[in-house]
Amino acid sequence: MMAIPVIAIDGPSASGKGTVAALVAQKLGYHYLDSGALYRLTAVAAQLQNVAVDDETSLAQIALDLDVVFAGQQILLDGNDVSDALRSEAAGVGASKIAVLAKVRAALLDRQHAFRQAPGLVADGRDMGSVVFPDAQLKIFLTASAEERSQRRYKQLIEKGISANLADLLNDLRDRDARDSARTVAPLRQEDDAILLDTTEIGIADAVNFVLKNYELAAGVQVNY
Ligand code: CDP
Ligand code: CDP
Repeated sequence: MMAIPVIAIDGPSASGKGTVAALVAQKLGYHYLDSGALYRLTAVAAQLQNVAVDDETSLAQIALDLDVVFAGQQILLDGNDVSDALRSEAAGVGASKIAVLAKVRAALLDRQHAFRQAPGLVADGRDMGSVVFPDAQLKIFLTASAEERSQRRYKQLIEKGISANLADLLNDLRDRDARDSARTVAPLRQEDDAILLDTTEIGIADAVNFVLKNYELAAGVQVNY
């Protein structure tokens, strides 16, 4: 039986993974997994329960027990809408701290695999192509300069009415990149079989078309643009 196809899109913070992955999924009629949201949810749930960021056993249990509903643009944790709290840079920083823990990563694996449903899945994160879906039909490593990424994040937060400081964002983003790349479990890096796409000077529509073109080549399918 043919495995259900997966497109894995990995890369650093604010490189455009989520936006591009969701649009590619929409175009193909595939499911979409925002794996970062699971790490953010675990960090937010841990904070609500006053669990320390280095308490690996308790954090892994929280990750296993997450009562989460993805309802379109809204994400519900224990029935409460936590979408805004999840998007904050504080949640991103918290996520990257607990994401270094092997037991937390292991606890989130089944939940991520469950998103692989027909007709296909587009998944974005740090280790989609390397660890979670190593047999993905297409692996993309999406990046952009740190300056461009912090500008994008700044604009995105301000547009959502969330206050932000550009210099702080650039610092947080560099710290997070360094922590994500240096960790021993599932570090952020471009795998040998991943195709690099630097979007520093490329818009969203072109990035989406790049992924779709490469998917046509990799999977031998035809996409209606
Ligand atoms: O998921 P990730 O953190 O990698 O990034 P994102 O949330 O998808 O994108 C961050 C922001 O950059 C969004 O507001 C996108 O619309 C924007 N973006 C852009 O301006 N140009 C691109 N080529 C990609 C993303
Ligand atoms: O949108 P952005 O790229 O800023 O963050 P995210 O994808 O929501 O991920 C938040 C944090 O979770 C990252 O900085 C990583 O430390 C962690 N993460 C991970 O370790 N593995 C994944 N597959 C996804 C996220």
